[in-house]
Amino acid sequence: MDYRQQIAHTLHKELSEHLELNEIYMLLEKPKHAEHGDIAFPAFQLAKVFRKNPAQIASEIAESLSSPLIAKTQVIGPYINFFLNKEAVSKEIIKDVIEKGSDYGNLSLGNGQNVPIDMSSPNIAKPMSMGHLRSTVIGNSLANILKKVDYSPVRINHLGDWGTQFGKLITAYKKWGNETDVRAEPIKELLRLYVKFHDEAETSPELEDEGRAWFRRLEEGNAEAVELWTWFREESLKEFEKVYQRLNISFDSYNGEAFYNDKMSEVVELLDSKKVLTVDQGAHIVNLDKYDLNPALIKKSDGATLYMTRDLAAALYRKNTYNFAQSLYVVGNEQSNHFKQLKAVLKELGFDWADDIHHIPFGLITKDGKKLSTRKGKVVLLEEVLDEAAAQALQQIEDKNPGLANKEEVAEQVGVGAVVFHDLKNDRLNNFDFTIEEVVQFEGETGPYVQYTRARALSILRKAGSTEVAPSDSYALTDEYSWEIIKLLHDYPSTVKRAYDNFEPSIIAKHAIQLAQSFNRFYANVRVLDEHPEKEARLALVFAITEILKEDLRILGVETPDEM
Ligand code: ARG
Repeated sequence: MDYRQQIAHTLHKELSEHLELNEIYMLLEKPKHAEHGDIAFPAFQLAKVFRKNPAQIASEIAESLSSPLIAKTQVIGPYINFFLNKEAVSKEIIKDVIEKGSDYGNLSLGNGQNVPIDMSSPNIAKPMSMGHLRSTVIGNSLANILKKVDYSPVRINHLGDWGTQFGKLITAYKKWGNETDVRAEPIKELLRLYVKFHDEAETSPELEDEGRAWFRRLEEGNAEAVELWTWFREESLKEFEKVYQRLNISFDSYNGEAFYNDKMSEVVELLDSKKVLTVDQGAHIVNLDKYDLNPALIKKSDGATLYMTRDLAAALYRKNTYNFAQSLYVVGNEQSNHFKQLKAVLKELGFDWADDIHHIPFGLITKDGKKLSTRKGKVVLLEEVLDEAAAQALQQIEDKNPGLANKEEVAEQVGVGAVVFHDLKNDRLNNFDFTIEEVVQFEGETGPYVQYTRARALSILRKAGSTEVAPSDSYALTDEYSWEIIKLLHDYPSTVKRAYDNFEPSIIAKHAIQLAQSFNRFYANVRVLDEHPEKEARLALVFAITEILKEDLRILGVETPDEM
C-alpha cells in the first residue's frame, strides 16, 4: 500500500479535469511538522484555472473529499493537510511487513538483468587501503540494493595486478628480499621492499631502469619474472581474502588488469579500424576535444599499453560476457576524469551502451588532513582497524554483558559492523578524516546502535514468549509513537527506490538509524509488555521492526547478532 498514491487518487476524483493523476502525486508533500498531518497538497497550481485564491480552493476541495484512509483534513493557507486513518494504515502496514519479511520493500525494476559492479579492486603487493575498503563496502551494498530491486549484480574485483610497479618490486626483491620473509608476512614485506625501492631510487636513479627492464621481461613472459609475479599475486590475494571474509563479501570475478593482457591488441585494432586513433609524438591517443576532455592515452611510444587500454578491454569484455543493463565502477572521485574519458572513447567507437556505464565516485579519506600515500609508507592498515574495532567491542561486552555466549563472535560482528556502517552512513561523496576513535563508536548514529536496538527488540519478544509473530488483520495501533514507526515502515519501498536511483547506501543507513531511534522512543513511552488491549499489536510492531532493521543492515553488509 502506498498511501501517497491513494491520496492522489482521492484528489484526482475531484480534480481530473484539471490535473493528471501523476501530476497530483508529484505535488504531494510531507508536512514539515507532524502536527500538520501526514501528507499535504498545495493548491497554488489551481489558482489560475479556478480563478480563485489558493486558500479558498483548498477549502472547497477539502470539503468534497472522502476516503476510508483519511481520518480528517485540515486547511492551512493554500495547503490541504491530510491526517491518515492510523488504525486502517497501521493494520495494513504491519500485516504487510510480517507477511513479506525480508522481501518487504523488494521492487521489480531490473527484470533480472545483469549489472557488473567493479568494486574493491586493490593493487597487488600493497596493503588494501581505506579507499579500497570504501569501494568494497559501497560496492557490496549497491549490489544488495540492486538485487532488492530485481537486478542481478555481478561483483567484479578488477585487481591492480599489472604495471611497471611489478618490475620495481621484482628488482627490490632480488636485491633486498628473501622467500622466508615474504611468506611470513607477505604484504608487509612487499610493501617494505616497494618503499625501499623508492627511497633508494632517489639517490640511485639507475634502479628505475632496472625496474623497467624487469617489467619488460615480465611482459615478454620471462619464466623467473612470471613466477615471482604469480607468487606475489597469490600471497597478496590470500591477505585480501582475510579482509573480505571478515566483511562477509565474496566476488563473482577476480579478472583484474592482467586478465586483459591478451586482449590489448584487439582494442588497439578496433580503435584503429574505426579511425579514432591518432599518433602524437609516437604515442597513440584518442582526441576528445569535442567532449572537452584531455586526449585518452592508449599506447605509449615504447608500445606499452595503459590503465585506459585495459579498462576499454574490460568494458568490451563485460558487455560481451554479461550483456549488462548498466555497468558500475565504484572508484574514488579522483578518477572521475578517467571514467569520463572511458565513456567518451566508447562513444567514439559508436557504442551507445556507453551511456549505461556509471562511475560511482566516493570521497577521499585523509589522515590528519593529509592524503595517504602507500609509496611513502603512509597507510592505515585495514586489518589493524578491524582488529582494534573488534577488541573494543569485546571490551564493551565484558563490561556490560559478561555472561553473553559466543562473545568473540559477537564482538567481531559489532566491531566490523561499526567500521562498515561508519563508512556507509554519510553521503558517499563526503570526504572524511580517519581517526580510530571516530570509526569505532558504539553510541549515537552507529552500526552497533542499530544492532543493539534490534537485539533489544528481540529480547522483548523473548520475554513475551516468542520471537516470531504471525501475520493477522488485527494489528491496529493509534498512538503517536507507533505512528512514527508505521510511517517509516510504510516509506521503506520508496527508500529502497531512492537508494537505487541515487546509488546511495547512506539512504538505507539513515533509514535504519531513524527506525532504531523511533523504536527507542516508542519503547520508552509505551509499555509493551503490560496487559493492554493493544498488547498483541504492539508486539507485532516490535517484530516488524526487528525484520526491517535486519534487512537494512543486511543491505549494508552489517551482521545482526540476536543477543549482544
Ligand atoms: N586498482 C585501481 C586503484 O587502486 C582501481 C581500479 C578501479 N577499476 C577500474 N576498472 N579502473 O586505483
